[in-house]
Amino acid sequence: MKIEMERTFVALKPDTVQRGLMGKIITRLEDKGFKIIAMKMLEVSKEQAEDHYAEHKGKPFYDGLVKFIMSAPILAMVIEGVNAVAEVRHILGATDPDKADVGSIRADFSPIMACNSIHASDSVESAKREMAIYFDLDKELCTNWKTMMELVIDAR
Ligand code: CMP
Repeated sequence: MKIEMERTFVALKPDTVQRGLMGKIITRLEDKGFKIIAMKMLEVSKEQAEDHYAEHKGKPFYDGLVKFIMSAPILAMVIEGVNAVAEVRHILGATDPDKADVGSIRADFSPIMACNSIHASDSVESAKREMAIYFDLDKELCTNWKTMMELVIDAR
């Protein structure tokens, strides 16, 4: 299996913020060992929403999707870790919570597909594009620090 250090974009969606579930979901990501290198709560603009979900334009759920992501704040994050793109999506579970594996975030927290709690990029390319929609990549990534695990490895 390949081992690549990757960055991915994650957003806790309006339903997560409204239901007070941010802490629980962040804990799942941190417990798995991912490093959060940027985090920002924001109200998504129409331009950001349309940019983020451009690939879904024209689909029956597109208008609702754009409206939903603007309906309350999101918590945008950049997450770093080994094979982060695929691993984070694994922890999320399938897009449709009814089909998500037991124990995944969406199986445990999401009521329906339209309110599926959390978004994560589906590829390294999408991650780069999505991060740039929400973050100033030159100024807002906290890259000059080490997790406890990295410090332990350095000390060996
Ligand atoms: P997300 O990971 O944010 O990527 C696109 C979103 O569109 C997805 O999560 C769902 O919230 C939403 N979505 C995808 N398919 C459907 C669908 N068939 N009906 C409603 N919403 C959908």
